[in-house]
Amino acid sequence: KILANTVFLGKEIIYLTECHSTNEYAQQLLRQKEAGEGMIIFTDKQTKGKGQRGNRWWTEPGMNLTFSLILEPKFLRSNQQFDLNMVVCLSIWEVLNQYDPNFVIKWPNDILHKTHGKIAGVLIENSLQSQWMESSIVGIGLNVNQDMQIIPRALSLFNLTGETYDLWVILEKLVQRIEWNYIRLKRGEIRLLRNSYLKNLLNYQQRQLFSDGEVFEGVIIGVGEDGKLLVDKGGSIRSYGFKEIQYIGL
Ligand code: BTN
Repeated sequence: KILANTVFLGKEIIYLTECHSTNEYAQQLLRQKEAGEGMIIFTDKQTKGKGQRGNRWWTEPGMNLTFSLILEPKFLRSNQQFDLNMVVCLSIWEVLNQYDPNFVIKWPNDILHKTHGKIAGVLIENSLQSQWMESSIVGIGLNVNQDMQIIPRALSLFNLTGETYDLWVILEKLVQRIEWNYIRLKRGEIRLLRNSYLKNLLNYQQRQLFSDGEVFEGVIIGVGEDGKLLVDKGGSIRSYGFKEIQYIGL
């Protein structure tokens, strides 16, 4: 099976009934030089799915989207890695926005629903070649048909709309969006992409509580070119890496 409505992504899809982690599988293929840009590894059942911060990612077999997409963004410098993250999060948001207007991107790797919690997570693993990006494994977990109500602050499209969806249809929509935004990135439209990203970013330009070791009230004023979160802390602008700041009250 391949995606029909894309230009160069998803023309080769490896479907596995079961897999430890699609990101790991993609890594192995890349190492053996058996994978190239656009390849998708898609599984119904992940036994050792990887989440952010070394967490596990587990969902009910066959119910949700669990896949990795291989990109070769050789036009990006190694310090532009976050551009790709932005493209991916924005693309997921754009697809979800067709179902409900209340989704937001939570920097750096999540898509949330404003009132019901998390619906998707992203784990991107890059390899670099000196100053440039070489390949990128874009791992996406998106809750589609599973009833997530037993899990606090999690939801699926099913929970939101009461309907079930064909996972291949959602996959195709997502990859189409990623492709489009990836092409825009390649064309140098990063400013436009960044603006759309910020427009849909959770609590952008709103006062909220954070902790960076101490609890403080601050305002997200943007994301730096290095991908760090820029926060106004008592009048001075601080930049934070992924593990250096926490949102409080979410
Ligand atoms: C997170 O929110 O913690 C990120 C979750 C990313 C999960 C996806 S599922 C497909 C791909 N393979 C993995 O092992 N992880 C990612």
